[in-house]
Amino acid sequence: MTSSIENIPQKVRLVEVGPRDGLQNEKVTIGTATKVELIESLVDAGLRYIEAGSFVNPKAIPQMAGSEAVFEQIKRREGVSYAALAPNLRGYERAMSAQATEVAIFAAASERFSQTNINCSIEESLQRFTPVIAAAKSDNIPIRGYVSCVLGCPYQGDVDADIVKEISMKLMDMGCYEISLGDTIGVGTAGSVAQLLDVVCKEIPADNLAVHFHDTYGQALANIYAALQYGIAVIDSSVAGLGGCPFAKGATGNVATEDVVYMLNGMNIETGIDLEKLINVGQSISNALGRSNASRVASALIKKRQSA
Ligand code: HMG
Ligand code: MG
Repeated sequence: MTSSIENIPQKVRLVEVGPRDGLQNEKVTIGTATKVELIESLVDAGLRYIEAGSFVNPKAIPQMAGSEAVFEQIKRREGVSYAALAPNLRGYERAMSAQATEVAIFAAASERFSQTNINCSIEESLQRFTPVIAAAKSDNIPIRGYVSCVLGCPYQGDVDADIVKEISMKLMDMGCYEISLGDTIGVGTAGSVAQLLDVVCKEIPADNLAVHFHDTYGQALANIYAALQYGIAVIDSSVAGLGGCPFAKGATGNVATEDVVYMLNGMNIETGIDLEKLINVGQSISNALGRSNASRVASALIKKRQSA
């Protein structure tokens, strides 16, 4: 698939990563009840895929240590995927005990990032994922694969698009149903996204790809617009633009879900999200964290509400 406005999908599935990617990097520790309320209210706003927690070493990511309790306490709604991140078989087993409905594994396109984030080389990480995928297949659990640092690495700088393509293909061959391409540090531009997708989309159909943009340099919406033109119809985002990765210093949160929904609404692309409800969710979690809301759309519409 090459880039064309004709490829822009009519419908987009949003993957809400706020409760995981968002909260994993927040300084303020928030309690289980607040996390549960966040997840339930995101579902109420129309989100149908929530990354609700992660089962990693709690010493590495203390903010996710309570993921078991979160999964236990959420009231589940039919038709909603409650996904969890798992770095190894132990994480997968924890995710299954917690009744996660999907699991995401995470590799990187940069050796140094892989070592820093998950303490092993890229090749070793794929070996760790092999038993995870085998278990998931026998349990009928869908597995999503992340590739981090697809447009740049905080330690080694530039990342070769061919490496991103190769790792993505390996994860697909291993059994992931979808690859989420992560611009972990938010350095990409519409130009570098196009260069990457020209390479990746030669081998992987757009239907099996998602994009995961952090907004550090304010490029995420432009990058999403570029990705839509390759027919990519799954977008990861985080309510109120929460988050980042503790192993990617200086990187800010994901693109705000509210900003993505506003843009897609303007393009008549269906998401199933109630923007007004979503703005209330973002404002409420921002208040709980004592931080300002990083969604530009939420800030603008809240001001408008106040002056009405
Ligand atoms: P390791 O040191 O290689 O593993 O860590 P290990 O097997 O030697 O175990 C070390 C310790 O971790 C032991 O505990 C294990 O019990 C424990 P200790 O004896 O020291 O007390 N351990 C676990 N505990 C609970 N659950 C587990 C588990 N596995 C081991 N599943 C490991 C390897 C991957 C576990 C570690 O490096 C880790 O947990 N890293 C966390 C990485 C992480 O969560 N990063 C953030 C998410 S990735 C991201 O944000 C990017 C993304 O959003 C996409 C993008 O933006 O690009 C997805
Ligand atoms: Mg991320």
